[in-house]
Amino acid sequence: MQYTDYTRAAEHLRPLLPLDAYPVAIVLGSGLGELGDKLGIRIAIPYADIPGFAQSGAPGHKGMLLAGTLGGRPVLCMQGRLHRYEGHEFAQVTFPVRVLRLLGVQTLIVTNAAGGINTGYAIGDIMIINDHINLMGGNPLVGLHEPAFGERFFDMGTAYTPALRRLAHDRAAALGMSLREGVYVAVTGPSYETPAEIRAFRALGADAVGMSTVPEVITARHCGMDVLGLSLITNMAAGVTDAVLTCEEVIDIGRARAREMEALVTEIVKEL
Ligand code: HPA
Repeated sequence: MQYTDYTRAAEHLRPLLPLDAYPVAIVLGSGLGELGDKLGIRIAIPYADIPGFAQSGAPGHKGMLLAGTLGGRPVLCMQGRLHRYEGHEFAQVTFPVRVLRLLGVQTLIVTNAAGGINTGYAIGDIMIINDHINLMGGNPLVGLHEPAFGERFFDMGTAYTPALRRLAHDRAAALGMSLREGVYVAVTGPSYETPAEIRAFRALGADAVGMSTVPEVITARHCGMDVLGLSLITNMAAGVTDAVLTCEEVIDIGRARAREMEALVTEIVKEL
């Protein structure tokens, strides 16, 4: 990807967007895409119509960029994300993040479905990501350095913006919800993990596991965005219980808990 690929996509999108400024964007994870249907004054642009965007083929991911309002605030929403396991290169997975940046997005809220590694967690819990471990075997910033977006080497000491984490706890408390906070480990997938891998990840300090988010977060932090990451624990990870992991379960729990996640994200966005 070259800088002009990102600017071409942004220039294509700008005239299609109803408002001049969108300070917040939300990436919707597996089973959480319905939040996009709740946006006010909403327009939907298929990824297929945006130059440089790859197609989202994962189950529960529609592949639409939405522009609308949530809690009265303008937001852009990626209804469907791109995954490395679909065969997309990291540069394709993270392409939309840089385009969002060029469109003026300052805060990126990333949601995902994740498996619970922490044995104190339960299915349906929502975890604020406070740090991550990248075991995807690659970094989206490998390759030609693009100085227009950020420094070659940059700090990841607070990848998940502390003020946004505090805001999430605060808004959850106002809704009578309590959130977990922990470390997300990202793997490539698409196979779910083995019990031995999950034991290893627990020993490394991970609380939840998933197949996304980390590439987008690295890219967003690189170009100076603030990041909030929210994981919905859709299942306990392999070996934590005897349950067999299925994709249907992940999507069903996502849908079942979508209301809580929607309410939380809406309350957070109102304060941004
Ligand atoms: N492992 C990896 N990714 C996931 C899981 C899991 O258990 N649940 C939801 N996404």
